[in-house]
Amino acid sequence: MSSIEIEGGHRLYGEVQVQGSKNATLPIMAAALLNSGISILKNYPDIEDVRQMKLLLESLGCRIILEDDQMIIDSQPAAETVLEQDVTGKIRASSVLLGPMLARFHHVKIAQPGGCRIGKRPLDIHMNVFKAFGASWSMDENFIEVECTRLHPAQIRMSKRSVGATENAIMTAAYIKGRSRIFNGAVEPEIIALCDYLKAAGTFIQIDDDNTITVEGRECSHASIDIPGDRIVAGTYMGAVTACGGRLKLSGVRLQDCRGFLNVFAGMGMQLKNDGIEAVTITMDGRPSAINMVETEPYPGFPTDMQSIVMACAAMASGRTVIKEKIFDNRLGAAVQLNRMNANIHVRDNTACINGVERLKGAAVMAQDLRGAAALLIAAMSAEGVTYLNNTEYLDRGYVDLCGTFNRLGARIHEK
Ligand code: EPZ
Repeated sequence: MSSIEIEGGHRLYGEVQVQGSKNATLPIMAAALLNSGISILKNYPDIEDVRQMKLLLESLGCRIILEDDQMIIDSQPAAETVLEQDVTGKIRASSVLLGPMLARFHHVKIAQPGGCRIGKRPLDIHMNVFKAFGASWSMDENFIEVECTRLHPAQIRMSKRSVGATENAIMTAAYIKGRSRIFNGAVEPEIIALCDYLKAAGTFIQIDDDNTITVEGRECSHASIDIPGDRIVAGTYMGAVTACGGRLKLSGVRLQDCRGFLNVFAGMGMQLKNDGIEAVTITMDGRPSAINMVETEPYPGFPTDMQSIVMACAAMASGRTVIKEKIFDNRLGAAVQLNRMNANIHVRDNTACINGVERLKGAAVMAQDLRGAAALLIAAMSAEGVTYLNNTEYLDRGYVDLCGTFNRLGARIHEK
């Protein structure tokens, strides 16, 4: 268990190049299995979840070369259709290998995926997708197995806008000749990036305003993609400035991808100015203001991945904020840890009622998931005194050197 010591009370100044999106990179790596040629991913983030996905693909037989900031994947040698626990258990994103492996090999057996403890995270919607394409599945506490003799195009209505299940549906459909349609699909920027990769490889994909996604499978061949900036990482820096004060220039992120939370930080008092193509300057002076109420929703609503970071900012805001977590059934765990830092947060029925306090106080706290870890780090950087944050390996799953970057911007973080 790794831990760090943070001395709070330092404002942040400087510039940050936002890393490539983790949640775009992972499904695009999986989709490379569908490609009969070479896939080139530019601007991928060198983080633990991507390293784990690389191991997964290599255990299937893929050849992967990392050159400069490019990942080059040749999936032609892939032949394995079974993935054991030792790698799939570490990341939830292993679930998006199901679609490509089923489409290409007509059989896939993977150990139950792992990932953050933010709720039950069942896979029933994924299984309904595969059934619609003509496959059958079985599952126990250790493995998921999906197989088919032949796959056919499908018309699928998603019961929930599940990001992973939509990604599996698109990737499976991309390998099947004929037209499939996905109704009520998720359309997060990360899914748009996946579609951009598949279109570059030759697939026809159209997304309508009512979240209907039409896919016509064609032979997928050589494709390269520029991974877009990670909107949640950009939001993490916005949360840090809102909590600590200061002025940052963020480059490499598209503002339209951040629609769901820009207004939240603006409501707290963060100033934002366009500063060139895919660049913004964010400034914060004084104590954040409370924002009354915010609810997590599928894109373009307020994203669940920003929820604990906004909670940390609200914990020190002037006034009362209510945050309702409507996507996951157990993702308010940061409240318990923030209360150890003198916060005043009450949680009931997936709703957190946050009465902002003048100043948080340093304490010993424990990270329990990726974005919760970022939220506690932000709280510690703004708190009075010293905080000891444990389980910081969560940060490495989704951020490239977050502590080193914050130190470069003026924070005082000592990695033990
Ligand atoms: C993706 O997870 C992201 N992960 C998550 O980011 C993100 O929080 C989530 O989408 C929501 O936006 C990756 O892209 C690797 P879902 P995913 O399927 O696909 C329920 C991070 O911090 N559900 O959209 O697993 C599910 O339990 C991570 O980067 C079912 O009930 O999320 C949840 O309540 C954390 N049955 C809701 O739907 C299913 O079959 C949304 O889940 C599938 C999902």
